[in-house]
Amino acid sequence: MEQAVNKQINREFYSAYLYLSMSSYFETVNMKGFAKWMRIQAKEEQMHALKMFDYLIARGGKVTLIDIEAPKVKWSSTGKVFEEVYAHEQKVTAMINGLVDLALKEKDHASFEMLQWYVKEQVEEEEHACAILAQVMCVGDEPGHLFWLDHELGKRE
Ligand SMILES: [Fe+2]
Ligand SMILES: [Fe+2]
Repeated sequence: MEQAVNKQINREFYSAYLYLSMSSYFETVNMKGFAKWMRIQAKEEQMHALKMFDYLIARGGKVTLIDIEAPKVKWSSTGKVFEEVYAHEQKVTAMINGLVDLALKEKDHASFEMLQWYVKEQVEEEEHACAILAQVMCVGDEPGHLFWLDHELGKRE
């Protein structure tokens, strides 16, 4: 379990890296609202990693940090970015479910309880990613509408 949680800590930091890279991409195409949304998302992923970090420490485990995979740096459109966000969150959900399966198998009730927060969080993550993807698809390449959506996403605190 310790090893599996360590691996997930790395994947959460990778998520942060991926969203920060997306933020950088949006800065290059001058979409400040999307960039801000991604930056906040990256911060959330860091928090996800640190929550597991603290859990391992609390349980007397050892956190072992390893290399974080380099994320992609370029996308062909806003739609492509959000397709990837949604697919990525679905992948993370599968990872969390795998951890829950392991906790059950090992009868590790503390880890099972800790993971329930992530199970709930992933429902939200997928919901938000899917909703924004739908909005982006709806807006298409219409500059005026895209500008509006950029403004809307920039309101995220
Ligand atoms: Fe996460
Ligand atoms: Fe996430």
